[in-house]
Amino acid sequence: MQTYTVSDLLRKEPSVFQSVDIKGWVRTYRANRFIALNDGSTINNIQCVVDFEKFDEALLKRITTGAAIHITGDLVESQGKGQKVEIQVTKLEILGDANPETYPIQPKKHSFEFLREQAHLRTRTNTFSAVMRLRSSLSFAIHKYFNDNGFYYMHTPIITGSDAEGAGEMFRVSNLDAKNPPLNDDGHIDYTQDFFGKETNLTVSGQLEAETYAMSLGKVYTFGPTFRAENSNTSRHLAEFWMIEPEVAFMDLAGNMDLAEDFLKSVLKHILEHNREDLDFLDTRLQNEEKTKPQAERSDMNLIEKLKFVTENNFMRLSYTEAIDILRNCKPNKKKKFNYIINEWGADLQSEHERFLVEKHFKCPVILFDYPANIKAFYMRLNDDGKTVRAMDILFPGIGEIVGGAQREERLEVLKQKMAAIDIPEEDLWWYLDLRKYGTAVHSGFGLGFERLVMFATGMGNIRDVIPFPRTPQNAEF
Ligand code: 4AD
Ligand code: MG
Repeated sequence: MQTYTVSDLLRKEPSVFQSVDIKGWVRTYRANRFIALNDGSTINNIQCVVDFEKFDEALLKRITTGAAIHITGDLVESQGKGQKVEIQVTKLEILGDANPETYPIQPKKHSFEFLREQAHLRTRTNTFSAVMRLRSSLSFAIHKYFNDNGFYYMHTPIITGSDAEGAGEMFRVSNLDAKNPPLNDDGHIDYTQDFFGKETNLTVSGQLEAETYAMSLGKVYTFGPTFRAENSNTSRHLAEFWMIEPEVAFMDLAGNMDLAEDFLKSVLKHILEHNREDLDFLDTRLQNEEKTKPQAERSDMNLIEKLKFVTENNFMRLSYTEAIDILRNCKPNKKKKFNYIINEWGADLQSEHERFLVEKHFKCPVILFDYPANIKAFYMRLNDDGKTVRAMDILFPGIGEIVGGAQREERLEVLKQKMAAIDIPEEDLWWYLDLRKYGTAVHSGFGLGFERLVMFATGMGNIRDVIPFPRTPQNAEF
């Protein structure tokens, strides 16, 4: 006798001679006869049929939703609809009870808000198990893509001594006594006495360190957690999120756009090929959710169509300047429907503008490039016009910005000037400047917010529902 997963068994042919052994959690138990058993290996349950006359009543009472059980039985052709095989139970063992009086996950519809409070148990539901299997599969596809394309995986530090990215507020890392920290003569905290002898923070991005490796190993990428202490309580922001950051030597902005587009298409293709059952389940879920919305707000594509649309069509590429022209003259701007009205070149784009371009105007993913220098980071390559930089953002339907990247400033003098303009001391980034001093070259990279990709791939509307234990303002439970 062999131990199988539910996924294995559902693919097998029935045979009464086949005694199988399986462990899992009870999803439902109905009519004192049918156990729907799930072990996480697939969205589908295997039906286990119990002949109640053959088992002790006290034992059968313990088959409740959430209980862990061990079943031995014959794999037979299913009498019911919806499955090829089922298990005729010959032996039943309760491994762990789940008291139905207190077990929070009952076989009924729970709200996502409620399930966030039960994040340790929510993967026992169909939706969250499907989302997290897809999250796992997308991670694998990402590593596979880079591995297949000659990139090295680099681990950039989580604790950083450089505060230069300017991507947002940082979380301090310190082991000084919070109640009684050592002070300087001027009354400020004396960080020379801190663990690292200087002020340190959790990283907001691995980019600057990844650049150092790109300038020796050629093609590298990071995939790790990043931290931002911005107080944005939106459905698209986390204080702890995972970011994928490739960085490539001798690649310009056009190459960067090609890489990002090919990469995104490839990882989405991977899940279309390998995770179809989970995607179909989430597709149906989303279609039901859409039906509750007013007609005008409903999406005209279902989840699978959206994914295929991205994998099969070219992204629209246009400059920031072209986008501003479109936005300035569009209906919602003229009718003052936007919260932020676009009047002039130089305005920072808000999510409402990005979504207008993607969802209403072009109706496809959009890559915007050549942004005004003063709304983008100091390390981006200054164009010859002296006022725009070789930045690119990729905007996705329903999400807005999913990728941010740039060709990097490789000219030492220009970089120094840009740092001086925003008061970044050269001593703080001496190692970053060294890359421009020794063997400098054109290079580029980007950052993909992993949870935003998972949101797009699963059709989930809130970023808190695509990461196991979300960290957001006022919330770090689990
Ligand atoms: O645009 P960002 O800030 O770019 C960087 O950090 C660059 N250093 C990347 C690079 O060029 N290597 O962040 C990149 C992406 C965003 O496009 C977004 O998808 C995601 O990270 N992101 C967040 N995701 C969840 N919660 C947040 N608070 C996020 N902030 C950014
Ligand atoms: Mg950005």
